[in-house]
Amino acid sequence: MTRSPAPSSAGTPSGPADAVLSLRDASLAFGDRTLWSGLDLDVRRGEFIAVLGANGSGKSSLLKVILGQQRLSGGSIRFLGEPGRRGDRRIGYVPQQKLADDGTPLRARDLVALGLSGHRWGVPLPSTARRREVDELLAAVGATAYANVGVSTLSGGEQQRIRIGQALAGSPRLLLCDEPLLSLDLTHQRAVSELIDRQRRERDFGVLFVTHDVNPILGMVDRVLYLAGGGFRIGTPDEVLRTEVLSELYGSRVDVIRTHGRVIVVGAPDHSHVHEEHEPTPGRAHGRGAEGLAS
Ligand SMILES: Nc1ncnc2c1ncn2[C@@H]1O[C@H](COP(=O)(O)OP(=O)(O)OP(=O)(O)O)[C@@H](O)[C@H]1O
Ligand SMILES: [Mg+2]
Repeated sequence: MTRSPAPSSAGTPSGPADAVLSLRDASLAFGDRTLWSGLDLDVRRGEFIAVLGANGSGKSSLLKVILGQQRLSGGSIRFLGEPGRRGDRRIGYVPQQKLADDGTPLRARDLVALGLSGHRWGVPLPSTARRREVDELLAAVGATAYANVGVSTLSGGEQQRIRIGQALAGSPRLLLCDEPLLSLDLTHQRAVSELIDRQRRERDFGVLFVTHDVNPILGMVDRVLYLAGGGFRIGTPDEVLRTEVLSELYGSRVDVIRTHGRVIVVGAPDHSHVHEEHEPTPGRAHGRGAEGLAS
């Protein structure tokens, strides 16, 4: 197992002052299988971090740890200076894509409204204020045109915008997105990526964005966390997405090819994906198929 020091600083032991999330010497194991260990990670306010790695490397599990749904095997986690707890509404979550079942009677605006706490400082929001807030969120995610349409009739990309609107409704300080680009076409991949990028700048929340293809967000991310073989690397894309860095992480020769501003990873032993711009096909990018990836 590689216990991987980051190529760039992961922060001081107490973490930077603007960290919304800090993991220290964090490890997660199931039985005798260690997914990752020695993980020091700070997510700063407004920072956009891509989480990359093979199927089963522990990306979704990391999000579950942050959501308080999974306990660390070792080390510590702090969110806004406090020990992590389950159900903290200041963490927004866009789960791995699951299309709304046919026949769901909810409209787009109803789903976004569900994300609102309904209370501010203990006072219930009056319905007009609530409606105005939902309208603003729908506009922010570019979904005004289908605000009153049943979500089950919307396309995957349109539903994804609604899901992001719902996650933003809680005014998150940290947004967790688990493969939000899965099954979206290139136009919608770009739209969803740019939406998250713009919102984190405007609202100053940190983002952890799990993806199998870094290319749609390569120009947006501040850093990447790359999980593989029980180890990890954290740094800027230029620091981490390099032949020598990933070869060391995987413990075997991996080639990182950069062409036309895109990154292609070739030869990763446990990795079926390439960081390549393509229209994702469930079952091609994910060996287990989408249903095995539910978060
Ligand atoms: N509660 C659990 N008990 C035992 N094993 C688990 C548990 N949760 C996850 N695992 C295992 O841990 C590994 C990592 O799972 P995780 O879902 O975090 O992977 P991932 O990196 O998100 O993969 P993918 O790219 O396929 O979504 C998998 O092999 C999974 O089967
Ligand atoms: Mg996953």
